[in-house]
Amino acid sequence: MSQLYVFDHPLIQHKLTYIRDKRTGTKEFRELVDEVATLMAYEITRDMPVREVTVETPVATAKAKLLEGKKLGLVPILRAGLGMVEGILKLIPAAKVGHIGLYRDPHTLEAIEYYCKMPSDIGERDLIVIDPMLATGGSASEAITILKQKGAKSMKLMCLIAAPEGVKRVQQDHPDVDIYVAAVDEKLDDHSYIIPGLGDAGDRLFGTK
Ligand code: URA
Repeated sequence: MSQLYVFDHPLIQHKLTYIRDKRTGTKEFRELVDEVATLMAYEITRDMPVREVTVETPVATAKAKLLEGKKLGLVPILRAGLGMVEGILKLIPAAKVGHIGLYRDPHTLEAIEYYCKMPSDIGERDLIVIDPMLATGGSASEAITILKQKGAKSMKLMCLIAAPEGVKRVQQDHPDVDIYVAAVDEKLDDHSYIIPGLGDAGDRLFGTK
């Protein structure tokens, strides 16, 4: 069973409150999402492997640690996932970025891929799939399925806000993928919006409506 991690760090929760607030405008919303993405990247990389090295300080030899250098990849789900990419890259600038776009078929309600461009070596990378709003979980689950078909072996899912329904769906479909969120909200409404949520993340990031 995949694990659900809720990042309850006070800085993340403080910034999330302003992200939720309908009075927060596009510029500030974008900046806050970027900052929360950086803070979440700090938490999500806690298990990165390190190796022991020695380093000469001005006064002695120190035993120290360096990152093992495991390759990482970020996969934002278009379009709202883009809003978290730069914030994560601030901490892990060498990560490669693949993009995946899905739309919902209005008749079957299935998530259909319309764009997918991945680094050629995704099978060797630890991937962070980014979907700020985990609502029904349909897009995230389908994106993960597509990435597995393309050879991905190691994935984490990073979201700002999840609905219980989305968490359940991803955990059922992908028991090997842990989920990292800043909050789990109450429920979905009839239009699959997260309640209370923050509205449409893409529209608020890009100033569309
Ligand atoms: N996508 C959003 O942007 N917001 C929601 O509440 C649900 C899905």
